Parts: sequence; structure tokens; C-alpha cells
Amino acid sequence: MIKKIKFLSIQTFILLLLISKGITSDIEKKLYSPDRKINIIFKLRNGIPFYSVFYEDKAVIQPSLLGFRFKDARPMRNNFLLLDAAQSSFDETWKPVWGTVDKIRNNYNQLYVKLKEEGYPQREMHLVFRAYNDGIAFRYILPEQTDLKNFAIISEETYFRFSGDHTAWWIPNDYDSYEHIYNETPLSQVKAANTPITMKTKDGLYLSIHEANLTDYAGMTLEPVRGENRFKAVLVPWPDGTKVKGSTPLKTPWRTIQISTRPGGLIESRLILNLNEPCVIKDTSWIKPVKYVGIWWGMHIGKYSWAKDHKHGATTGNTKMYIDFASKHGIPAVLVEGWNLGWERWGATGAYNFVKAYSDFNLKEVVDYGKKKGVFIIGHHETGGDVPTYDKQLEEAFLLYHNVGVPAVKTGYAGKIRPEGYHHHGQWMVNHYRKVVETAAKYRIMIDAHEPIKDTGISRTYPNMMTREGVRGTEYNAWSDGNPPSHVTILPFTRMLAGPLDYTPGIFDLRFDRYKQKERIRSTLANQLALYVVLFSPLQMAADLPENYEKHLDAFEFIKEVPCNWDETRVIDASIGDFVAIARRKGKNWYIGSVTNEGARKLEIPLSFLSTGKKYAAHFYSDSPNADYNTNPTAYKISRFIVDKDDTIIASLASGGGQAVSIKPATQDDIKKLRVYRTAKK
Ligand code: NOJ
Ligand code: CA
Repeated sequence: MIKKIKFLSIQTFILLLLISKGITSDIEKKLYSPDRKINIIFKLRNGIPFYSVFYEDKAVIQPSLLGFRFKDARPMRNNFLLLDAAQSSFDETWKPVWGTVDKIRNNYNQLYVKLKEEGYPQREMHLVFRAYNDGIAFRYILPEQTDLKNFAIISEETYFRFSGDHTAWWIPNDYDSYEHIYNETPLSQVKAANTPITMKTKDGLYLSIHEANLTDYAGMTLEPVRGENRFKAVLVPWPDGTKVKGSTPLKTPWRTIQISTRPGGLIESRLILNLNEPCVIKDTSWIKPVKYVGIWWGMHIGKYSWAKDHKHGATTGNTKMYIDFASKHGIPAVLVEGWNLGWERWGATGAYNFVKAYSDFNLKEVVDYGKKKGVFIIGHHETGGDVPTYDKQLEEAFLLYHNVGVPAVKTGYAGKIRPEGYHHHGQWMVNHYRKVVETAAKYRIMIDAHEPIKDTGISRTYPNMMTREGVRGTEYNAWSDGNPPSHVTILPFTRMLAGPLDYTPGIFDLRFDRYKQKERIRSTLANQLALYVVLFSPLQMAADLPENYEKHLDAFEFIKEVPCNWDETRVIDASIGDFVAIARRKGKNWYIGSVTNEGARKLEIPLSFLSTGKKYAAHFYSDSPNADYNTNPTAYKISRFIVDKDDTIIASLASGGGQAVSIKPATQDDIKKLRVYRTAKK
């Protein structure tokens, strides 16, 4: 060797040295979570970057590839030298404007890896890895550089090689909709999926793959690649087939893996929010989580219509009736759909006018009427997917709501995106959805987006992005074969890991036979109440018709009092797809929601989270012993007891049933009048 080197030029010698250091030998960097339970290993093997993830000694991700392929440029997947690898730590606690908890700890260790191609074109690719106690994340950074300016990504070469054939809960990789029923299959039977996709390993770990801070990029789906439980990130394309167009510098969204030993740990994880930028809205005093009723379910079941015909729902008179109902029951807001011109041409390009009302609706009059009664209007922008028409009117449409005093708008994209060929979840629409949130913020308006891009935690940055659909919600029960009872026992562990959900719960007339005989809701009434705790949404609907609430005012009490913004959240017990029981606290009051699938069951709920030495009055909204989602859905019973932290309460759930409980510090009067709970365990 030494002899040979004599004949080599200095340059060749340096190159050989570099190659031997950077390429031929493996480079390995290990990053631990603050509690050292999770670790990420970054490896550069023969110039090819890999990452793997472990929970203690259990492999979560086996060595998996990273990189990009571009249109008209060489791929960036190999030939890399390591320029630098720097570790750092971060620990802060921040307060969300609203949420499932009142403060969030953001504590991670970071590894920042700088790679450079060894030969031409010597482009740089950086990777940022973060290890948290509740999972890991990584993103790519392509710095500004002469040989990589404008680019079109045709493939993000991110792979996830899982360590076994886990059980997976997933919906298909539809590029336009998340409105699907979840599949539960072995990983090997996942065809292709949207995220979050959630898994349970044989050794008892719960994993969920998603993304955080999806900004100016395409949504990520996962597709299996030949065997080995290996999946690849597949981005939603532009009409020309490319995935992401841009110029350096580029920061991709974070690719996230939530990891927990309990299913409830996934729900308690704040990983996705923590990976987003802090709030950019200075004065957030106008952002207010509220419950709402609305001119909505009536259209879905056929009592009303959106268009102005003999069944028109959004009339001035009807809206005032809803405002009266809301005001009487302390519900702060009323949604009005179908007030603006265009609904008779639903689906046609250029149909909707977002500022002109039908002749039987006076926007200013209803808003002013609401103001007198302490109720505000939630406006509505249904685009039918016709984005150019909406985009043209965007400023004017938000300005109108701002001027008249409408502080929240529900948006909708039901239908194919126009121009043809664009997808709801592609980069162009990601940017459109963000523009709407930013425009709304400018006019101090909160957003509830239907047919949205999935949540990736941007409400940390834009807390006026309150809630969204992106789910097969209650509406499906009105005009399809509906959602099975198991649906709401899966959503908290899949869709809801992304963020809040406008599921529109609270239907009391579960069969609505007067309007439709075949369709129905597959749940008991008590289950509908429990959803207010189980399915978090800072804009939370009481979706049924006022007359149906009037028939069950005792049960409606729960909807009236349950908060939609929380200080603390604890998952008491869960088995994904079978049941879930969640307790949430606001101030000194606790609320518990439990729901089950088709299987009736009894859950034991220890109240150990209550304060020591305090008595509480607990209000139970339970399935009656003879309740059954199929044969007797409306049978519920209400009872009140004194409880304390040593009690264990029993939730007796009917098939498709549920239980909602409110627990508040007991008054002297409560202590005098109420019986003490006969606890299951003392
Ligand atoms: C679909 C939405 O999900 C639903 O809530 C709305 O009523 C209709 N589109 C009409 O905008
Ligand atoms: Ca929808």
C-alpha cells in the first residue's frame, strides 16, 4: 500500500483518504430520546444514507433508505460524504391557544446531519432527526445551492421498513378524500394508505406514521414495496405527474413515528403539534372554542334543502329560530349552510357566489339578531371543488363576513378539484388551504374545513385553523350505509392523532324515520353523548334538529355543559377498534366519555385522577340495560351520585353504546341530597 501511494498524485491521495473515511467505511450516529427509551441510528454505508429506529431493544424501523428523485436532474440517494453531524437538545413548555391540554412540553434531542455528494454535481442534502419520549421525526433540508436551484421532485425516496407483520388500522391512499371506513389488517395486506396509519406490534408497541407541518409540499401516502413489510413515501402528484415543485432552500414536512407501549399513549402524544412553528398570530383573543348548532342535518336527511326551493333551510326566519334555540340553551354559535347563491347548480364550475344571498335570507339581519341574543353565525363557503371561482372571491368573501360580524367560516371542497387533474391532497391544494387560513386570520375569522387536507399540526402556528373534517363523519349515516359502531373506537387512534375532528356528533333521533326509513345511525344515544369527550374539536357541533333535543332535554344537558377545550386529557382504557374511555378536565370539572363497538361490555374506570379528600357530584348518562344500537338505541338513563378519588365507576356499555359522565366538586346541597356511589373497588 505505502509503495503504491508513492506513485499517486496528492489529489488522488486526498480523494482516496476521503473515500476511505466517508464512503467505504460506515458512519454511524446514534440519537437517544430524553428518557433514552427511543433511539434513532443514522448510517452512511458506502455513501448511502439509512435510518433505523428502536424502542429499548425492539426494532421499530429496520435500516431504511432516504433521498429524492428529480425531474431532469440526477437522483440524490447515494454517493454522499458526511460533512457534519451535530447533536443538540431542546426543552420548552408552551401554552396552546386551545387544545386537549393547557400546556405542552416540547423536549427532544436532535441530530443535524449534513451530507454532500462526493462527485458531480456535489449537491448538499441535510437531514434533521429528532428523538422525543413519544416518538421520532425527521425531515430533509435542501439548502440554497448553485447546482440545485429550481427543482421538480418526482419521488421522495423515504422508506419505512417495519420490524414485523404488525396489525394495522388504515384507510386507502385516496388522493382526494379521507372519508373512508378503517380497515384492520396485517401490515402485509395494506394496499396503500393515507396517514395517520396506526399499528400494533406483536411485542406490544403501538406505532403511528404521519407527517407534521405540511407546508408548500404534497401530502404523503404510504405504498408497500415488495415484501419485508417495507413501505415507501408516495407523494400526491400534480396533473403532470411531478410531486413537488419549488426552489431551494426547501424544508420538507416532518415524517413522524409516534411510539407508545399503550394505545392511549398515542392520543396523549403531542409530537405533531411540537413539530410545528410557534403561533404567528399576535392577538389571539378573538379565537374562541365553542359549540354550535346549525342548519345542516336537516339538509342531509331531506327536511331542508340548500338551494332556494320549497324546503329552503337557510331562511331569515329559520335562522332566527335556530338562534333562539341556541340562545335559550347557552350554545354560542349557529352554522348556516345554503344562504348564498349557487346551490341549484351544485357541482358546476362557476356556480357559487360567496357574497350574494338568496332573496329569503338577510345576512346582516340574522347576524344582528344573533348579537342581541349572544349568538354568532358560522358562515359557509362550499366550493364544490371549484377552487378558481372561490379564489377569485376569497378576499371579498372574508371581508363581507368580517364587516358584518361573522367570526367563523366552514369551508367545503365536496367534488373534484377544478382545474381537472389537481388533487385535494397535492401541493397546489396544500397551498390553497393554507392561503384560506391566512386570509381568514387577516380578517379574524376561525376556520372549520371540510374535505380538507389532513391536519399536520399547523393549528399551533395558526390557531384560527380550528377543526376539520377529513373523516367519514355523521353525514354518511344520512345518505349511505353509514358508519359501523367500531368507527368511533378507531378514529381516536388514527385520524385524530393528526388533530381535531369536526365529526358533527349529537344525533338523538337515531333513526330519523320521519325523513328516511332505510338510513340510520349505528349508535345509542348515550354513545352520541360520549363522543363529545372522545372526539375532540374546538368547534364542536350539536348536530341534531332542535326539536329532537327538545324531546330529551335531560340528555341535552350534557351537550350544553361539556367543554370543547381542555386543560388535561387522560386515556383511561382502550383497545383499538373495540372500545375507548377518555377523561378530560376543564378547571376543577372532569368529563369521561366511553364508547364501544358492536360488543356490549363493562369498563372499570378508577377515579384516581380526582383530588385527594374532595367529594364530587357525578352525573351519569348511560345506556339503559335494554339499550342496543340496533334494536333500542334511544334507551338511556341518567343518575347522580357522590364520588371521590377512591371510587371505581362502572361503564356498562350496550352494543354500539357509550357512557358520558360529568364530575364536579360537590356542593353542600349535593352532599345532602345524593347517594354515595356503590363503588366497584375501594
Ligand atoms: C360536505 C360537508 O362535509 C357537509 O358538512 C356539508 O353540509 C356539505 N358538503 C355541503 O357543503
Ligand atoms: Ca364531507
